[in-house]
Amino acid sequence: MCGIAAYIGQKEAAPIVLEAIKKLEYRGYDSCGIVTLNDSLTCKKGTGKIEDVDKQVNFLSLRGNVGMGHTRWATHGEPSDRNAHPHFSCDNNIAIVHNGIIENSEELKTILVKSGHNFRSETDTEVVVHLIEELINEGNSMEEAFVKTLKLIEGAFAIVAMNKNEPNKLYAVKQSSPLVLGIGENEIFIASDVLPIQPYTNKVVYLQDEDFVVITKDNYEIKNLSKIKVNREVTILNENLEEISKGNFEHFMLKEIYEQPETIKRAFRGRIDKDNAKFGGLNISNEQLKKIKRIVLTGCGTSWHACLVGGSYFQEISKIAAQVEYASEFRYKNPVLGEDDLLIVLSQSGETADSIAAIQEAKSKNVKTIGLVNVVGSSIARMVDGGIYLHAGHEIGVASTKTFTSHLTALYLLSIYLGRINGNLSKEKAKEMLNDLEKLPEKINEVFSSVDEIKKIASKYFKSKNALYLGRHYNFPVALEGALKLKEISYIHAEGYPAAEMKHGPIALIDENMPVIVIAPEDRLYSKVMSNIQEVKSRKGKVIVVTTDATKNGFDEVILIPKVSEFLMPIISVIPVQLLAYYIAKERGCDIDKPRNLAKSVTVE
Ligand code: AGP
Repeated sequence: MCGIAAYIGQKEAAPIVLEAIKKLEYRGYDSCGIVTLNDSLTCKKGTGKIEDVDKQVNFLSLRGNVGMGHTRWATHGEPSDRNAHPHFSCDNNIAIVHNGIIENSEELKTILVKSGHNFRSETDTEVVVHLIEELINEGNSMEEAFVKTLKLIEGAFAIVAMNKNEPNKLYAVKQSSPLVLGIGENEIFIASDVLPIQPYTNKVVYLQDEDFVVITKDNYEIKNLSKIKVNREVTILNENLEEISKGNFEHFMLKEIYEQPETIKRAFRGRIDKDNAKFGGLNISNEQLKKIKRIVLTGCGTSWHACLVGGSYFQEISKIAAQVEYASEFRYKNPVLGEDDLLIVLSQSGETADSIAAIQEAKSKNVKTIGLVNVVGSSIARMVDGGIYLHAGHEIGVASTKTFTSHLTALYLLSIYLGRINGNLSKEKAKEMLNDLEKLPEKINEVFSSVDEIKKIASKYFKSKNALYLGRHYNFPVALEGALKLKEISYIHAEGYPAAEMKHGPIALIDENMPVIVIAPEDRLYSKVMSNIQEVKSRKGKVIVVTTDATKNGFDEVILIPKVSEFLMPIISVIPVQLLAYYIAKERGCDIDKPRNLAKSVTVE
């Protein structure tokens, strides 16, 4: 996905737009650009992160009270100066920035080239600005040309456009990619999310699909693509979005790892009611929830790993059948869904295209949907029937950490709630489990006392070419998550496996160069996991054990964690593997908060 931002008002646009795209850089950072209007459209853009490009081009030299900017995560066309947004019409009178994907760009480009348009980039986006130009050349106004263009393109898009001949206007549209208006005093802001807007105004309008907006500095008019006026609610941002800073931490990711005792508290705050959990926004009656025979959990990446833990919670705590699906696969499997099913979608950003598509699949079959989402007002949060916000605060590090443990906390509470209302969980057991949860933040603080040991392990193994993560039952998803963290930020190939599965093939990989990280708390499967560890040791594998057993020795490395219930163990055991990935990546000099090729949320399929 990409980040787009625009400003129209009485101030210089460039400083505002520059700060805005910096706050959106977690959405993509392959290249960036800004254009302002001051008699003519003047643009500066380049390849790389904003800070580096700004040193080359000096964005603040741009003049004008209208402007827009873009920070890119490449879909069509490699990261390069010519593929960086904004993109321009042949006559340079029209500029656009775009977040999303134009799925029919190739056929449109063929038509436009035949009618004489010359393309300067390999992007799908550029067809949009040439289409607008073509339609204006045919006698349409800018607004008509833009609306007609929107009816010709297919895919996901949030677009902002400027026209040199209409210096007091911005044009914008939202279709499957997020776009928010910020309503100021004689100034209006546009951005992919509220972060860049919040310093200037708390009045925001979350645009909905097919919203087309004509904006001046003191007014905006929303219409749908049939040009019928649409009224959208002005939301007052009541939460004081925390100042986005790293504080004393070197990276956002490390800050967010250390925030977890607090963010887990925020995930359960106000949701514990003596011997049950409680929620404000499920919007599905207890009568309907009691009828649920199967829960389908879906998500992507780290959120999918959280789904795996949640599936076990619902089976073991709520005694409801559960099935976990990759969101990207779900809609292609013609899932058999009925009214006794419930779809639960997990997403930090609330904008992941594959997860949105999974919800659409479920809704097409009249299945109730619940979203566990972090970003307030995000697309998924607005699509589902009911939801549970994680309240983890903005997660800036591209590698998810605190929202994984917040997801598990929300799932744990929801499984208690469902178990209580369907009679499968006693009041006493629920009370005990909720009590365990309230003690968890303190337990997490104990994990941080192992950080020096983890740093030492990182300094020994950071040159490894591969790594294997093993765990059983609740700790198998932690093995997957630990492997994903390592891959994402250190670029070391790593795989997570069920510990018992290792002997069905992967054991062939074991030698003295293969570090094997084993999540092995003293639970009912502990002795089984110990046998798996012996299998690795007997083949000279290097074993790093994450365990509660202080007597454990005979391994190459031991990372001690405190004992908690089997259900809550994944919330504890994931923290050492988050820290291990962080310190290995640090030893390797990787860009931890903005790993190569990644973006914080993938809003294309
Ligand atoms: C996790 O560290 C990654 N950033 C990625 O796998 C992420 O979890 C995935 O893209 C899903 O994002 P979402 O939770 O915002 O839907």
